[in-house]
Amino acid sequence: MKEGESRKRKRRRRHNSNSKPQDQESYQSKSTAKTTAKKHKQDTVKNNEHHQTSAAASAKRPKPSSFLDKMRARLSGGHFRMLNEKLYTCTGKEALDYFNENPALFDMYHSGYQEQMSHWPELPVNIIVKWLKDHSPSLVIADFGCGDARLAKSVKNKVFSFDLVSNDPSVIACDMSNTPLNSSSVDVAVFCLSLMGINFPNYLQEAQRVLKPSGWLLIAEVKSRFDPNTGGADPNKFSKAVCDLGFAPVSKDFSNKMFIMFYFKKKEKQNSKSKEIEWPELKPCLYKRR
Ligand SMILES: C[S@@+](CC[C@H](N)C(=O)[O-])C[C@H]1O[C@@H](n2cnc3c(N)ncnc32)[C@H](O)[C@@H]1O
Repeated sequence: MKEGESRKRKRRRRHNSNSKPQDQESYQSKSTAKTTAKKHKQDTVKNNEHHQTSAAASAKRPKPSSFLDKMRARLSGGHFRMLNEKLYTCTGKEALDYFNENPALFDMYHSGYQEQMSHWPELPVNIIVKWLKDHSPSLVIADFGCGDARLAKSVKNKVFSFDLVSNDPSVIACDMSNTPLNSSSVDVAVFCLSLMGINFPNYLQEAQRVLKPSGWLLIAEVKSRFDPNTGGADPNKFSKAVCDLGFAPVSKDFSNKMFIMFYFKKKEKQNSKSKEIEWPELKPCLYKRR
């Protein structure tokens, strides 16, 4: 071997032992990579476990509604409040024309109404159902402003259900101040939160017409509408007006926080002289934004 060549080799060996050899660097990086990969694998397993447990937990939790869902709910809540106010501030005839033009608005009103009712601890319709079950199933009923006809679906009695729109073959669509029933043909007339129109006395007049003598008149209304301290009607004045129409008072129930109940019976004999009845104004029941 030539002298110069051996010196060159020695220098190269020295250089290699001082500086970080390429292979070592790659070994180290390979080994680091292996450890990192192992750690990553462990982390991934941990993460997967975490994801699985949190996925299971979130499956149990009710899904948080998206912004879009919230906006939709807000919008439909707004539509409901607008329709509700409309029903309380127009006549039955106007309400009938309004929904006839756009029956889809009726569904919108009712889904909002169901939402509101879901916050009530007790529904007045259930109190009426219970009352009916305590009486003879042979009594014929007229449900004025029946909504989804829950009453008819809950009892054995023959029920004529009336509302502005009919989404069910059992519901007769009409303005309830003018039903197709014969005079003196039913035993019980029910108004469950349905004295909405500004001409509500016409609805009660219609009930008086279709009820048999001694027939029952059951009225459930939102309590605030009969609270004189907050601009509501005086319940005694309301009772007096109903009596002037040809009914006798049987009882009142103020025990519920949300609604009150009036029970009347149609008088056997009606006054031949019709006198001017002083009806108190019934303020609208406007629902707050939740
Ligand atoms: C607040 S909801 C109550 C529905 C049902 N009675 C209940 O308790 O679930 C009042 C209902 O009365 C109906 N209504 C209001 N005015 C009416 C009228 N003039 N003729 C027929 N239905 C009427 C409305 O369309 C609505 O369905």
